[in-house]
Amino acid sequence: MTPNPLDDPAADPFEIARLAADDVARLTGVEHHDIALTLGSGWGKAAELLGETTATIPAAEVTGFSAPALAGHPGTLRSVVTATGVRVLVIGARTHLYEGHGVRRVVHSVRTAAATGARIMVLTNGAGGIRESWRPGQPVLISDHLNLTAASPLEGASFVDLTDLYSSRLREAARRVDPTLDEGVYCQFRGPQYETPAEVRMARTLGGHIVGMSTALEAIAARQSGMEVLGFSLITNLAAGISPTALSHEEVLEAGRTAEPVISALLARVIGSL
Ligand code: HPA
Repeated sequence: MTPNPLDDPAADPFEIARLAADDVARLTGVEHHDIALTLGSGWGKAAELLGETTATIPAAEVTGFSAPALAGHPGTLRSVVTATGVRVLVIGARTHLYEGHGVRRVVHSVRTAAATGARIMVLTNGAGGIRESWRPGQPVLISDHLNLTAASPLEGASFVDLTDLYSSRLREAARRVDPTLDEGVYCQFRGPQYETPAEVRMARTLGGHIVGMSTALEAIAARQSGMEVLGFSLITNLAAGISPTALSHEEVLEAGRTAEPVISALLARVIGSL
């Protein structure tokens, strides 16, 4: 296996993202993308509903991308054009912090998206719900986050402002499509173990409503690159201790599969309206 250039501490991750964007342009034939969308568990069908897919490329052929770690994370990048001519880069290749390859690899897809020209980053995930009124299969907007990973994608003294990180303008746009969308604060844990009930109580006490293992670090990197962020969680299960039953990865995938057609259609409508 060829070494990943991001693993060289002397390398500039933004330069590697520029090289990756050149690969995307060459392999898709599309020079510039307007919006990028990362697909989490349960959101996979959105790509088909967004518009016409003009190219699908294996992420492994793009500089700096890692091979997929999980079944259900397909490891491709797609270029989609919407009915109104908006170019969407659909990222089906997420690297999680728990894979142990470092934060640079976790946020590389976001930096690549920014280098392709995308100004809006739509981040989706499957996550646990802390609010008792929420049900598995329900999509919610992310309004803010608590980064509980003790990690950051920022290197050195980069003091990035995170006010309104999950853009209120984009959340309003989503609510124009579906006024029933609720929202909450996303707590990112490192994983891969699910949280203990005590950790979920801690997250709730701190003001959290959603628990997951992906999106906060990506959102920080997106803001650093000057992108506007829209975040969606599919509540795949009630969080540990909120749910009376034990959590299982199978159950999380099953909730994703059941909800997929409905939430993917919602997502495609929201992106189509931006
Ligand atoms: N916790 C963390 N990540 C998750 C969960 C959860 O309950 N469900 C799906 N991803």
